[in-house]
Amino acid sequence: MHISEDFIIYFENNLPYLIDVKNKEEFCIHDKSYFEAILKYLQNGSLDAKIRSEFLENNLIVKQKIKSISKYNNKVADLFHQASNNILKSFSDMDRLEFAENYLMASISLKENPLPNQNYSVEYSEDELVHLPEPTKEKYNKQSLFEVLDRRKTIREFYSHTVETQQLSDLLFTCFGYFHRHKDNETEEYGVFKRRTSPSGGCLQSIDAYLVIFDVADIAPGIYRYDAENHILCKERDGITYDELKDLLIGQFFGDNSSFGIFLAGNLEVFTWKYKTLRNYRVSFMEAGHFSQTLQLCVIAENLNCWISGAFNDTKIEEYLNIRNKRVIPMFYVAIGKGKYKRMNRIMTEKRNELNLV
Ligand SMILES: Cc1cc2nc3c(=O)[nH]c(=O)nc-3n(C[C@H](O)[C@H](O)[C@H](O)COP(=O)(O)O)c2cc1C
Repeated sequence: MHISEDFIIYFENNLPYLIDVKNKEEFCIHDKSYFEAILKYLQNGSLDAKIRSEFLENNLIVKQKIKSISKYNNKVADLFHQASNNILKSFSDMDRLEFAENYLMASISLKENPLPNQNYSVEYSEDELVHLPEPTKEKYNKQSLFEVLDRRKTIREFYSHTVETQQLSDLLFTCFGYFHRHKDNETEEYGVFKRRTSPSGGCLQSIDAYLVIFDVADIAPGIYRYDAENHILCKERDGITYDELKDLLIGQFFGDNSSFGIFLAGNLEVFTWKYKTLRNYRVSFMEAGHFSQTLQLCVIAENLNCWISGAFNDTKIEEYLNIRNKRVIPMFYVAIGKGKYKRMNRIMTEKRNELNLV
């Protein structure tokens, strides 16, 4: 017999909880005799008959260990992967009509609670708001997709450049704004949900853009949250230096001299309105990936360059973005400006040469 490897134990308020990652179930262990039984089993292999049958029934102990490879080469990542694997609630055994009915009924029950507010600027005073110029839509028409894809590259060295407010407005609107709103029957088709140029899990639009402004005409350096609903920037913090950015990005200094950057942040209040299982972790990051790619392509179409980073100090960023006590998390950073079309920063190249590395 083996203790199953599908369980995690964690503690909260001095109480142990057991998570069955395979069956996505969670139990609070109020009765400490279960713990004592496990300890005794570990010491001498003996298990009280009643507890043994309970453990067997709940798969806490298994007769045979199932051999499986470590997918991530990391135990916690494997457990996490397993916990977010397989949607257990399946409609597979239903015919098409039954599927349609069940799916629609599940969607209707969601709407009993209103979708969280995404009209962010109402939370700020007028002097904290930057009203962006009306976005223009035409310019991206002039470039072929192929040409833009061909020029996309992660660069790691920027030089000083002031980005026009209009460019920022166009980029934000195209990548994070409600771009399709003008279309006939769009509202009719989507109801409370709105679409943007990137796809969105459940059409919840849970990716928020937090801007780090260094050098954009007529906008003071600082950190701003984009209100897509009203096409307005909402100030979170005055001023930021490249050294501070470097610190947030665990020492990576490749954002030096960038004109601005965007933290893609997951608004989990919006997201968990619909998605409540551990699998939501996958969906929210996939959504950030889609938004990042659209943003990078539009940055290239603007004749600018970008550097991207998924490596950063989340806790420090939460403080800078003012989201520590909000249900919002940073997911990805895109630094934007004019730069050298090179993979490596000059400092890295010089160091590589000095150390005689290939
Ligand atoms: C999810 C993800 C995370 C990344 N994180 C970093 C990072 O922390 N620092 C960095 O310099 N580049 C980062 N990159 C950029 C990759 O190194 C880069 O995409 C890769 O070298 C290929 O180059 P290309 O983007 O020019 O095609 C990341 C890319 C992705 C997709």
